[in-house]
Amino acid sequence: MGDTTRRSPAPAADRTSVAGMSEQTWHAVDDYLSDLLVPTDPALTAALADSRAAGLPEIAVAPNQGRLLELLARMCGARRILEIGTLGGYSTIWLARALPEGGRLTTLEYEPRHAEVARANIARAGLADRVEVVVGAALDTLPELVAGGAGPFDLIFIDADKDNYPGYLDWSLRLSRPGTVLVADNVIRDGAVIEAGHPDPRVRGVREFLARVAAEPRLSSTALQTVGTKGYDGFALALVEA
Ligand code: SAH
Ligand code: DHB
Ligand code: MG
Repeated sequence: MGDTTRRSPAPAADRTSVAGMSEQTWHAVDDYLSDLLVPTDPALTAALADSRAAGLPEIAVAPNQGRLLELLARMCGARRILEIGTLGGYSTIWLARALPEGGRLTTLEYEPRHAEVARANIARAGLADRVEVVVGAALDTLPELVAGGAGPFDLIFIDADKDNYPGYLDWSLRLSRPGTVLVADNVIRDGAVIEAGHPDPRVRGVREFLARVAAEPRLSSTALQTVGTKGYDGFALALVEA
């Protein structure tokens, strides 16, 4: 590289300084990519509309991220999928659509109201026969899954409360086999992740999660920053090796 200029990093919360791009541009590019590459789907559109109408927070994955989850599940031939954090079932529908005949998805949700909305959305998508929504705090329901002999899962999507990500990693490993794919959403959070000693327990949880992923010899892993309609965030991806 001929350019030896070093720029100091932008402040973590300054969303307009990433390569001079604005959030408006990220939205427009996400819309362009989704319109071009992500198949439109009435059940997915309705799931988002009904989630919004029911007053659920608008924090589901973006359409192109949902498509990524579906592709990852198909690429690894997932027949058993675990999701931690259902919300209105938007990501659930993407993942369940990837399942082959006879495949199953279990999704864990703390809020009964979210689970109720999700079940209706999943049923409308024609997926009720292969998806089970389990209501409860995931740190309570994950041990029940293990005790009940569930797993191993082929793909696990971690997307619930960020403070508990370290615990979700431990349980996910217990429910894995060599070859299991782990995906964890929201590990960047406007860049807050780089701040050691951050006061927000969600940021601390994600940092502890990433540190444990890095130290875990059974995992090969990476993480990517993303921008788009969901702001500046990112996800971690890991492969269980042993
Ligand atoms: N995966 C969804 C978004 C999940 S949002 C999608 O992309 O469409 C995070 C969800 O985790 C919320 O519905 C929230 O109620 C749930 N949650 C929060 N704490 C939880 C806990 N302790 N156990 C299980 N779910 C939890
Ligand atoms: C939040 C949670 C999510 O899973 C997400 O994708 C975005 C935001 C949140 O709790 O703020
Ligand atoms: Mg998320």
